[in-house]
Amino acid sequence: MNKKVLFTIFGASGDLAKRKLYPSLFRLYKKGELADNFAVIGTARRPWENDYFREIVLDSIKELMVSKTEAESFASHFYYQSHDVNDSSHYDNLKVLGDKLKAQYQTEGNQVFFLAMAPQFFGIIAEHLQSEGILTGQGFERIVIEKPFGTSFKTAKELNDSLRKVFTEEQIFRIDHYLGKEMIQSVSAVRFANPIFEALWNKRHIENVQITFAESLGVEERGGYYDTSGALKDMIQNHVLQVLSLLAMEQPAVFDEAHIVEEKVKALKAIRKYSHEEALENFVRGQYTDGEHFIAYNKEDNVSPESQTETFAAGKFMIDNERWEGVPFYVRSGKRMTEKGTRINVVFKADSASNLFTDKLTQNVLTIYIQPTEGFSLTVNGKQAGQGFALDPVRLSFRHDAEFMGNSPEAYEKLFLDALNGHGTNFSHWEEAARAWELIDVVREAWDNDKEPIPTYPARSMGPECAFDLLAKDGHDWAWKPDLWYKEHG
Ligand code: BG6
Repeated sequence: MNKKVLFTIFGASGDLAKRKLYPSLFRLYKKGELADNFAVIGTARRPWENDYFREIVLDSIKELMVSKTEAESFASHFYYQSHDVNDSSHYDNLKVLGDKLKAQYQTEGNQVFFLAMAPQFFGIIAEHLQSEGILTGQGFERIVIEKPFGTSFKTAKELNDSLRKVFTEEQIFRIDHYLGKEMIQSVSAVRFANPIFEALWNKRHIENVQITFAESLGVEERGGYYDTSGALKDMIQNHVLQVLSLLAMEQPAVFDEAHIVEEKVKALKAIRKYSHEEALENFVRGQYTDGEHFIAYNKEDNVSPESQTETFAAGKFMIDNERWEGVPFYVRSGKRMTEKGTRINVVFKADSASNLFTDKLTQNVLTIYIQPTEGFSLTVNGKQAGQGFALDPVRLSFRHDAEFMGNSPEAYEKLFLDALNGHGTNFSHWEEAARAWELIDVVREAWDNDKEPIPTYPARSMGPECAFDLLAKDGHDWAWKPDLWYKEHG
């Protein structure tokens, strides 16, 4: 309640700030988490005035605005300082303004720096914050940074080393916005608050686990960035491996940041690191071509016509520990797929040897719907109603109402509040990011050395054939069912 803090946002004129940061701060303001004792300095190169900046902020929150007076009083806490991150003298101006606002809003020296800009500037900003005396050690001082955290293990480590010269690990909050999503946070509740699942959560009962991050949109206006990244680095290295580690980790001794991170890191370290040859066997990629209403990826703006960048990646991770020996974790993520849907399917073994019935048993599948629908379902075998005896698979379903009642907080809002409270559980830690890069680098290198042209898939499909073959060769298939809830009501 009524946090005392000065925020400094680097990249204040950017898209992320407008789409996510200002609306999230406004939501916290409406809830009373921010009231009289906060101020925001926005910095970017453009020569804006405070009034113009406040108009931008007001415009970004217009959909959340109920009372104009309330919105204007929120925006009055925003100040703009034109800033070139490479120019030491500019940090003097920032310090003067910061000191003034700290006194005016009585923020008790607490500061949060939000870096919504390209990672190559993270180190230089951190260095100047220290050398120009902006960090004073008076209150809490935290730095929140956006992905991508590096482009490989090597660059991520360089980035981390430069931040760690100035900030401790506890002061660094690396955003993975999926960790702010309601249903990702629910994974631990499903696992550890339900003995019926936790008892079965192992190689004896689970045949495979499937994680799908499907997006219906294409690369939109981000072609320039995306063409240097691709699905493997953009999604699998961070969001997908974070989710996988939450599904695979052992139960933490205590449900707090230190213990959860320890278990996640252990799970990530137990993931088998492939040779290049194994990476090619276990990972596949694809690029979308045109469809009826869509242009092909290699015709998108700022994308090279010869691009070999993958807009889809799928793979099989194996976890070499007692719990998961022999259980494949299949993952896939792609753009321009049939529908938007992030889902986890936990596919249980069907014990055909002890099957009493003439009908084949349908496998029990626990589905965790991350988005757009938020909920769970469990496929079980029932009896078909009527004369005789036939099995009929049915779905037990629960759908989270929060989203539809409008009170499910935005991921960024939750993460902002966590950072303000110093709670790092829902952020990515260095050891997690480091291990994820080690695993991903091998696949990337194998693909870079592979001379085969990238496979393609039609826009609005579930990816290239090779992604289905990946499971078929193990005798499995993607347990993907259309999201009926969303189709009917979404
Ligand atoms: C981002 C990726 O991290 O996540 C984007 O860079 C992707 O390419 C986005 O579209 C998906 O996030 P969400 O919350 O819309 O599913």
